[in-house]
Amino acid sequence: MNKVLVTGAAGFIGSHLVDRLLEAGYEVAGLDCFTDYYSPGAKRRNLSRALARERFTLIEGDLLHLDLDGTLDGVEGVAHLAGEPGVRSSWGERFPTYLERNVQTTQRLLEAASRGGLGRFVYASSSSIYGSSDGGPVSEAGALRPASPYGMSKVAAEEVIGLYARERGVPSTLLRYFTVYGPRQRPEMALSRFISAILSGEPVEIFGDGEQAREMTYVADVVEATVAALEAEPKERVRAYNVGGGTRTTVGSLVNLVGGAIGERPEARYCPPVPGDVRSTWADLERSRRELGYNPRVSLEEGVEEQVRWALVERRSLARV
Ligand code: NAD
Ligand code: UGA
Repeated sequence: MNKVLVTGAAGFIGSHLVDRLLEAGYEVAGLDCFTDYYSPGAKRRNLSRALARERFTLIEGDLLHLDLDGTLDGVEGVAHLAGEPGVRSSWGERFPTYLERNVQTTQRLLEAASRGGLGRFVYASSSSIYGSSDGGPVSEAGALRPASPYGMSKVAAEEVIGLYARERGVPSTLLRYFTVYGPRQRPEMALSRFISAILSGEPVEIFGDGEQAREMTYVADVVEATVAALEAEPKERVRAYNVGGGTRTTVGSLVNLVGGAIGERPEARYCPPVPGDVRSTWADLERSRRELGYNPRVSLEEGVEEQVRWALVERRSLARV
């Protein structure tokens, strides 16, 4: 495979994937419309390294409206990461945005993909499709019981992909990422908020009792799984894989870990639980280890330290502006 289209290229995970593919010598087209879900300026900074590379092209446009004719010319693999993230903000009036950005965009891209001889369509799905995994690690055969409109929109996107794989022959891989963290993490996610609060000398906000548990995955591990999925020989027309970090923590323990990495004693403010927030996520990684050769390498302690280091550099450079 030589040329890859990455959608959501300016986002947290997409920008790391772009950097990694360029490093490996791929030609990369990155597509993004810089939504205002969080600062578009932060997204532009995410792409600064890639924009200096010759083998990178930025396609600035909205997948919902963009004329996709020609966009896939010469493209052998698509990594479709564009979407509206955020579990807790997906209720109420924002629901149509989740349908547009997660479901309709996916269908439009697949329609274009089904016209050419695409080698692989890789989708950034989510642990949110399972809902809470209270009984231990969940495998890809686990029931899909999303607890939020966001999770439901990711189930719907997976269904659309299954449809185009079966009926229109688009060879597809569904990667179910579990709570991803590391440098460039979205600012509303837990770890980003905890680091920012502690560095500012403010209390961290814990939603609920802090005993909810997350399988957490370092972004470089997620990127390795995504590259492996682009390169792997397909086992079936559509195949799903869990992408977890092989490590879990409660939210309360995560706060203490961040405090330790920064060298401060965090103060916590307990807030009411938020709808859609699942009690536990836990990935069974057997299939992704066996079929993708996936092996998460970064421990939670190392990963948290990396994100703290990055946040400190960001704060210093933003303070200079
Ligand atoms: P992100 O918000 O940083 O990146 C998504 C990018 O998609 C943004 O840059 C946004 O501008 C772009 N985008 C959104 N709608 C678009 C459209 N219509 N046209 C073009 N560009 C559009 O989010 P992220 O955390 O990097 O997540 C990337 C993908 O992975 C998402 O699909 C998300 O649902 C999925 N995911 C993320 C996590 C996580 O923990 N971060 C876990 C599971 C799944
Ligand atoms: C994350 C991503 O945000 C989703 O895009 C992704 O699809 C999902 O993972 C997934 O794995 O599928 P979430 O697990 O809610 O969703 O990640 P965080 O935002 O980092 O929250 C983790 C936990 O911390 C949640 O229980 C949340 O309620 C809690 N939290 C978050 C707080 O207690 N305080 C905060 O300030 C922020």
